[in-house]
Amino acid sequence: MATFNLNVNGKTLQVDVLPDTPMLWVLRDHLDLVGTKFGCGIAQCGACTVHLDGVAVRSCSVPVSAVGEKPITTIEGLSEAGDHPLQEAWVEHDVPQCGYCQAGQIMNAAAFLARNPKPTDQEIENAMNGNICRCGTYVRIRAAIKDAAGKMG
Ligand code: FES
Ligand code: FES
Repeated sequence: MATFNLNVNGKTLQVDVLPDTPMLWVLRDHLDLVGTKFGCGIAQCGACTVHLDGVAVRSCSVPVSAVGEKPITTIEGLSEAGDHPLQEAWVEHDVPQCGYCQAGQIMNAAAFLARNPKPTDQEIENAMNGNICRCGTYVRIRAAIKDAAGKMG
């Protein structure tokens, strides 16, 4: 075991875990931030997406020892009141079906819009391509991102 001080959603939190423990496990099992979901565990589905220093990463495949002082943002920390433009667009477009993939979808989309605030449809398509939704909500996801981008820009 080793002690890690992590900057999560603006707070410094301490965990005592093995250095190769994936961030996803740390977030869910040690810090009780269960908005981030376990899907495949092998960086294939995007359900576990969080931001590491503003970049979307798959937390199932990032060992806690690789995080250092870089800030982590989870869906719980994306906005204080759950009113990020993407979250509002998600409600307006009634995006989720079962909901399981949606935190990862939103986190991936948020990092994408932060670096590309006025994306084309094709850019949205490309950016979201790796996030899998078993319920097939892709059309509503794309529409909500487009809408949020319009409001943010
Ligand atoms: S659980 Fe991490 S990408 Fe699927
Ligand atoms: S809403 Fe069910 S997996 Fe995406």
